[in-house]
Amino acid sequence: MTSGPEIPELDSSRPSIARVYDWWLGGKDNFAADRAVAARMAKINPALVGMVRDNRAFVRAAVARAASAGIGQFLDLGSGLPARPSVHEAARAVIPDARVCYVDLDQVAAVHARALLASGPGLAAAEADLTRPGEVLAHPDVLRVIDPHRPACVILAAVLHFLDTASAREVVAGYASRVVPGSWLVVSVGHYEDLALHEKMCAAFPSQPYYNHGAADFTAWLEGLELVPPGISEAKRWILGAGSVEPAGQPGYTLCAVAVKP
Ligand SMILES: C[S@@+](CC[C@H](N)C(=O)[O-])C[C@H]1O[C@@H](n2cnc3c(N)ncnc32)[C@H](O)[C@@H]1O
Repeated sequence: MTSGPEIPELDSSRPSIARVYDWWLGGKDNFAADRAVAARMAKINPALVGMVRDNRAFVRAAVARAASAGIGQFLDLGSGLPARPSVHEAARAVIPDARVCYVDLDQVAAVHARALLASGPGLAAAEADLTRPGEVLAHPDVLRVIDPHRPACVILAAVLHFLDTASAREVVAGYASRVVPGSWLVVSVGHYEDLALHEKMCAAFPSQPYYNHGAADFTAWLEGLELVPPGISEAKRWILGAGSVEPAGQPGYTLCAVAVKP
C-alpha cells in the first residue's frame, strides 16, 4: 500500500473530464479549455449530451431501485461535480436518512465535496483513486458514513470507460469481493456502435483515455453477481424495465447494468 492517491494539480489550461462532463450537463464549474473540448466533442457526436443525460437518469433510477430494496448507504466512485438531483437526493427520496460518500480525484469536485460536508449529517466526500478499492474502502472519510459490515450500493457510473477492460474488471472485482453479500453494484459506460465515431471522440480529447466497452465486457466484469432486471441494457430501456442492448439503433449510447452480490 502506498502513501495515498496522487491528486493532480489544478490546471485550468488543461481540460479535465469532471469539468468537461459538467459542461455537457449544463453546469458552470468549467474553464475555457474544458468548454472547448466539450463543445468539440458534442459537435462530433450530436447525441452526446443525450447520452450523458441518459446516464444521469440511469444513476438516479438505479439508486432509487437499490434504496427501495432497503439499501441505505451509497458509495459514488468518480462522482464528478454536483448534478441535480444528486445521488443523495435520489436515495433520500426513498430512505430519508440514507448515507452517501462521494469519491473523486478532481480538484473542483473536491471543493464542492467539502462544501457538501457542511450541508448535513450522513454525507461524506473522499479525495481518492477509485482504482484502489482497498484504499478507498478503508479511507477515513468513507468510513465516516459507510458501515463496511452492512450492504452498500457501489456506483461506478461513466468511469469504467477510462480503463481497459482487464483493469475495469479488476476494479469491479476489487469492490465486489470486499463488500458484504446483499450489496449492489451500479455500472455504466458510454458505448459506441460506430467505431469511427468513437475514434473521432478519442482524438478530440487525447489526454483522456476512452475505451469502447460492450455487453461482453459487462458480462465478464459482473461474473458471479446477480443481474437486476432488465440486465445489461441501453440506459433508457433499463429505466423503462424492458432492457435490451440490440438493436439500440444509435451510433452511441449509454450502456448500463445493476447487479447484486449473492
Ligand atoms: C464522466 S464523469 C462521471 C460522473 C458521475 N459518475 C456520473 O455518472 O454522472 C467521471 C468522473 O470520474 C472521475 N475520475 C476519473 N478517474 C478517477 C479515478 N481514478 N479516481 C477517482 N475519480 C476518478 C473524474 O474526475 C470525473 O469526475
